[in-house]
Amino acid sequence: MTVVPVKLNELKNKLVIIDQTLLPNEEKFLELDNPEEIWEAIKKLRVRGAPAIGIAAAFGLYVSTLKSKAANVAQFKKEFEEVRDYFATSRPTAVNLFWALKRMTRRFEQEEDKTVDKIKQALLDESEKIFAEDQEMSKAIGKHGLSLLKPGMGLLTHCNAGGLASSGYGTALAPIYLGHEKGYNFKVYADETRPLLQGARLTTYELYKAGIDVTLICDDMASLVMKEGKIDAVLVGCDRVAANGDTANKIGTSGLAVLAKEYGIPMYILGPTSTIDLDASTGEDIKIELRDEEEVVNGFGRRTALKGVKAYNPAFDVTDAKYITAIITEKGIVMQPYKESLKKLFE
Ligand code: MRU
Repeated sequence: MTVVPVKLNELKNKLVIIDQTLLPNEEKFLELDNPEEIWEAIKKLRVRGAPAIGIAAAFGLYVSTLKSKAANVAQFKKEFEEVRDYFATSRPTAVNLFWALKRMTRRFEQEEDKTVDKIKQALLDESEKIFAEDQEMSKAIGKHGLSLLKPGMGLLTHCNAGGLASSGYGTALAPIYLGHEKGYNFKVYADETRPLLQGARLTTYELYKAGIDVTLICDDMASLVMKEGKIDAVLVGCDRVAANGDTANKIGTSGLAVLAKEYGIPMYILGPTSTIDLDASTGEDIKIELRDEEEVVNGFGRRTALKGVKAYNPAFDVTDAKYITAIITEKGIVMQPYKESLKKLFE
């Protein structure tokens, strides 16, 4: 993945993102430094995918408050908290957003006895750390994930959990990139991922450009390709993993997991430990984002149902832990019983 989808500009005073709503047809980079633009970019999925949302929020919080003219730390803190709380309203499901905002807050509090300028410097340092750690995490996830795969395998993925959803290497696609470097010749099937087509627009874009064998399928073809024996493993990312292993990911993931179980295909969830939320005991505690009905009936400029027809548009679903073969993090591979194995990751 050559494009870094979320980063700071050279002067380190603007957030730079590739506008993912325009892909694959146009590669347009946006430079943002005000909270409203950054909030809008997250909300509208110009930057999306759990790890990338966290990085955008951290860099966004830094660049938004960098311009502050606050005369003292108390005033600066008030401004910082206002932007932080505003960003927290952008998208509810991916816990990485809240995780990154919490990390930035903790760092602020550690430096609170310093000058405003020193605190700004510390916020830059923390956001750059979040970015750098994400790159390392992706590579480690790739390594652990690859240990479960064999050359020539057929792999099914859903939505986009690749470089575009992170700092440039991805989660579910990380083992695929690593395997590609080692000549594994995977055959990747990418679900289109209705309604916003992250699979069609983003996953095939990045895998095709990387020279990886990728075939696009409509979401409703997953069962068929499994039955035809084309799929040896399902690899998906995650937006929030509860303490018992229940996992929120892009709408449609839970259906794939049920199918995979029926056909005896392993279902792997890949994500950094920042996506694990031990405060959520089960999937019931995960807030699922409901998005505009227009995305379903009028997604890409053409109305597909009569005006007035109701549409339901939850952006995520929760896969019950019982359908998940393993959760692959940068710290290693965990299996059932997830309540114990996930907890151990944080000890
Ligand atoms: O609505 P999106 O595009 O932000 O949803 C993204 C997903 O569901 C991804 O699968 C998930 O964030 C994992 S990204 C490594």
